[in-house]
Formats: sequence, C-alpha cells, structure tokens
Amino acid sequence: MTQAPKHFINLPEIPDETLKAILKAAHALKKQKYTPPQLLDGLSLAMIFDKRSTRTRLSFEIAMKQLGGHTLVMTKDDMQLGGSESIEDTAKVLSRFVDAVMIRISNHSMVEELASFSSIPIINALTDESHPCQIMADIMTIEEKLGSIAGKKLAWFGDYNNVAKTFVQAAPKFDFELKLAVPEPLLPDNCDLLNQGNISIGSDPIHAAQNADVIITDTWVSMGQEGKTIDMFLPYRVNSELMSNAKSEAIFMHCMPIHRGEEVTDEVLNSPACVIYDEAENRLHAQKAILAYCMQNSGVQVQTTKENLFG
Ligand code: CP
Ligand code: NVA
Repeated sequence: MTQAPKHFINLPEIPDETLKAILKAAHALKKQKYTPPQLLDGLSLAMIFDKRSTRTRLSFEIAMKQLGGHTLVMTKDDMQLGGSESIEDTAKVLSRFVDAVMIRISNHSMVEELASFSSIPIINALTDESHPCQIMADIMTIEEKLGSIAGKKLAWFGDYNNVAKTFVQAAPKFDFELKLAVPEPLLPDNCDLLNQGNISIGSDPIHAAQNADVIITDTWVSMGQEGKTIDMFLPYRVNSELMSNAKSEAIFMHCMPIHRGEEVTDEVLNSPACVIYDEAENRLHAQKAILAYCMQNSGVQVQTTKENLFG
C-alpha cells in the first residue's frame, strides 16, 4: 500500500520524537556541509511563492541541489492557480510532476487544502498562521549556542504573528518556557487558554525579558500588513536596556528581514549576543533535514548508499 505523504505544515501534527529526529539530522547535515550526502538524488521540489523571500528561497534551493535534487520556482500568478484552476487539480497535477512542493502563501487553509489532494509532501514555507521551517532552524541555533532547549526561557517581543504562533506550538513539544510580550490591542482572544503550562502571554516587556536565555523579535509589520500603525510597538523595541533584564549570556534572535532601529537597535545587532546570521544559515541545514524527512519516507524511493536519516 502506498504510504501517506509526510507533509510539513503544522508542528502540532508531527510527533515530538519526529521533530527531534529532524533536528538531530539537521545538526548532522551541518557537519557534512562540504560533503553533503546525495539523499535526494534525482528528486524535484516545486517552490511556489505568493510572497517575497530571500532566506527561504535560498535555503530550499541550495538544500535540494546540495542533496542531489532539482528545484523549480514558480509564483502563484505564473501558474493557472493564480487564475481559475482549482487547488485540487493543481495538487493532482503537481503530484505527477515533482516529488514535493514548498509553498509560501498568506492563506493557511489553502496549504492544507493543497495537501489534502496531494500524493506528495507539501511543506509550509510561511503562511499568515505559521512558519514551522523557521522555528526548526531557530531551535537548532539555540541548541548550538546554549545546549538542549528543554527548560530554556525564550522571550518574544512585538506582534503576535505567524512566527510567534509557531513558537507557541513548539514550546510544549520541545519543553521550553515561552513568555510573549505583545501590545495589548494585539493580544489574541484565547489568551486565557494560552496562558498555561510553560507559556505566558501579556503586555509587559520587562516581565517577559526577566532572566531569559533567548530574546526574540520579528518585524512589526508582516508581509501583507503594510500600512499598519507601529506606535504601539515602541515599548517592545529590543534595545540594550531590555537585554539587560535577560541572563548575561542571553542571545538575541530574529528570523529576518530586520528593520534596523525599529524592532531592534543597531547596538543589540552589533553586540556579541546577536546570532542572526547563524540563525539564517541554519535555515539551510534545517531545510535539508525537513526535505529528507518528507521525501525519504513518503513512498519516494531515494537512491542512496547513505543510511536513511530517519531509520
Ligand atoms: N526568515 C525568512 O523566512 O526569510 P525570508 O522571508 O527572506 O524567506
Ligand atoms: N512575520 C514575518 C516573517 C518573515 C519571514 C512576515 O510574515 O512577514
């Protein structure tokens, strides 16, 4: 019987042990940076973008090529999907041509619908709801810098956006503490539900920063939200004063792109605490592991003499 495709869309749907295995593979693949195993020899990835990208596009393209595969980049508007063709037909046709699809699009349910009609893996490369590939690279970076993420205190400042929501999904899976400081008007309706276990969400930036191991922010205005007022974010800017509430060895992270002087000051970006370029590079290694997980165990036969990373 054909195996169901292994999508990478929603972290909560992927078993904790699988996510940890993907991260372990990402660390191993980073060590093989200059001698990458040809795990995806001859396989093809379609990359569909309906939004801008630098890191996601670079990391998926280079990851596929270094592992022996091929990529095809399309924008939604290049495709009949941008016209009148249905998601169902798009999914069924893509499934006959390529071995996996990566998609970046605002509408999260569209990605889930694409997956429901697809016989190949679908990878969420950012929607308005989540950015799971980013969070895998972020956890990898924290592990590199600070050791096991279990028990670490992560603090988020600014918008309750796609990246913040994915950290919320990741916290119980990787057993880290997460404090989010979000302007009051942007607090989610389900704050009471979120405020339990190892997650706390509120509007006090100093409280969130206290004793943190990791200070994280993101753009105040996500793609597609241009024109949004930013005054309410001013108390959430990451500056040296805010950083001084965290542990002395705390690191600063940001998924990028950064708006220098808005969500974070140059002083923090130029300090030894800042690990943003390692974080960006780790998108490549994490992507390789995600691609190998999706494509090696999804009924796709990978021609390789290397050991299957996921057993
Ligand atoms: N962090 C991230 O996803 O960057 P890009 O938008 O450049 O892909
Ligand atoms: N929250 C940002 C992340 C960009 C990688 C956005 O959606 O624009």
